[in-house]
Amino acid sequence: MRRIAVTGGSGQINYNLLFRIASGEMLGEEQPIALHLLELPEALGALEGVVMELQDCAYPLLREVVIGSDPMKVFSGVDLAILVGATPRGKGMERSDLLKENAKIFVAQGKALAKVADPEVKVFVVGNPCNTNCLIAFHHAGGLNPRHFFAMTRLDENRAKAQLAAKAGVLVREVTQVTIWGNHSATQVPDFFNARIKGKPAIEVIKDRHYLEGEFMTTVQQRGSAVIAARGKSSAASAANAILDWIKDLYTPTPANEWFSSAIYSTGNSYGIADDLFFSFPCRSKGDGTCEIVAGLPWDEFLRKKIEKTEAELIQERDEVLRG
Ligand code: NAD
Ligand code: LMR
Repeated sequence: MRRIAVTGGSGQINYNLLFRIASGEMLGEEQPIALHLLELPEALGALEGVVMELQDCAYPLLREVVIGSDPMKVFSGVDLAILVGATPRGKGMERSDLLKENAKIFVAQGKALAKVADPEVKVFVVGNPCNTNCLIAFHHAGGLNPRHFFAMTRLDENRAKAQLAAKAGVLVREVTQVTIWGNHSATQVPDFFNARIKGKPAIEVIKDRHYLEGEFMTTVQQRGSAVIAARGKSSAASAANAILDWIKDLYTPTPANEWFSSAIYSTGNSYGIADDLFFSFPCRSKGDGTCEIVAGLPWDEFLRKKIEKTEAELIQERDEVLRG
């Protein structure tokens, strides 16, 4: 049985995510699972309602549900931890406003994972600012493997694919090899330069470089804010969907000539990005819940400058929370 911790159990992402995990969509229809759901004490009542609904779905694979507000108890024995719970960004707030607020959560959860989770636990950070929260959790999870920590940029990848597909008038699945470089923030770099459409370089299919460097980039970079402005709440169904895509990517051998985006530990990377960051790279997996960086993708001058900017932002976030 796989024991899966999910934090922020009564939040809006989880109202989309938990049911899909329990149905077997994430780890396959043969894999029994136990859900370990962490919430703040004041939200445990609402979480109990979610647990009732999970029970009422009568999912054959869902064998056990544990709930609580103490990570030292809830994380006991888990082999996957999906860290969603955090204070979300409201209208007009930037991610940096959240940095210090949410850092405390990830200190406590990193420590608890190191103490009570399976020593091979894979940790997937979604709560924002997710790259730096992931770094904080890792830094406080002495003894756990940095290659087992990930922060989510898979939603950004899906957004970039959807925009390119719409512009080129093709199916989304015909857009491949799309990388998000760097931070899950407005400085992220959706890479149209190495992307392919129907197997051809995207820049040969969409010849409008002005669009690619302008509207395409900003639409993807600002999509999270645009959803907040429209809905008054941050994206939830699409975020849950991306969590499933991302974890499936890590537990499925990546097809030839493909890759997916995930923020992973940067130390030792082949692109010259600073060490000790969770930086989004193109990744491939053997299907064991770990991944390797796809090496040697070329950067043109435009991309290089943008990547330097997102790297600088992550260094600044790191220095603010870990050394500030
Ligand atoms: P939400 O407010 O609906 O739910 C968050 C839940 O987390 C709440 O129920 C809250 O009680 C709980 N929580 C807060 N602190 C906690 C703690 N210490 N332990 C356990 N639970 C805790 O928010 P949401 O819309 O579900 O979003 C959750 C997070 O995901 C936010 O930080 C949001 O910014 C982020 N997000 C990330 C991405 C991405 O692509 N990486 C996309 C969308 C949203
Ligand atoms: C998103 O990309 O939709 C979210 O990360 C936005 C946010 O800040 O909650």
